[in-house]
Amino acid sequence: MGIIVINFKAYKEGSGKKALELAKIVEEISSKVDDYIAIAPNFLDMSEIMKAVDVDVYAQHVDAIEYGSHTGRIVPEMLKDIGLKGSLINHSERRLKLADIDFVIEKFRNLGLTSIVCTNNVATTAAAAALGPDFVAIEPPELIGSGIPVSKADPEIVRNSVEAVKKVNSNVKVLCGAGISKHEDYVTALDLGTEGVLLASGIVKAKDPRFALEELVGLK
Ligand code: G3P
Repeated sequence: MGIIVINFKAYKEGSGKKALELAKIVEEISSKVDDYIAIAPNFLDMSEIMKAVDVDVYAQHVDAIEYGSHTGRIVPEMLKDIGLKGSLINHSERRLKLADIDFVIEKFRNLGLTSIVCTNNVATTAAAAALGPDFVAIEPPELIGSGIPVSKADPEIVRNSVEAVKKVNSNVKVLCGAGISKHEDYVTALDLGTEGVLLASGIVKAKDPRFALEELVGLK
């Protein structure tokens, strides 16, 4: 039993009506397993999803800013106000500066939001852990969207990230992501010492997302 966070990204298959359908599938399958399954849909789809579905919702990104004169930005407090659980921070498709990651983690701590900081190698994982987020998610960028699971293709990066985090701050939990789609990829990630996985295309872009998620959690 572990943690699964599904990032809908900006995939057409995970937007609009499809986002709501997928969120409902996640809710249904969550109720059948002990795993914790959360979603990170597009901002535009969140309100409707949160009205209709009882699943923890995360943002895919948040800006390191206070309320004020900014255009097209998201303030951490806004996430709290609409009822989000937390956010991905520093995703490899939306990087932040180190000082900005620190700012957001600190804000989240005060707001009671969950921080999931994405990293690309062992050194950045250790650096992120030193800032004290709730989670770091190690995701080698070259494997993202590849269908090649990090837990199998590069178990060392996962194992070494877990070790590095333990040394720096053992309260920080570790996820891994990139190319995860099958139950065995997930189980391998847990065996490597992570708390779970962050994934996207393996579910969102699957021909049959329900089947893909059932397979991931071991119901198929
Ligand atoms: O945020 C999850 C992610 O970047 C991994 O993507 O498509 O390889 O599961 P994917």
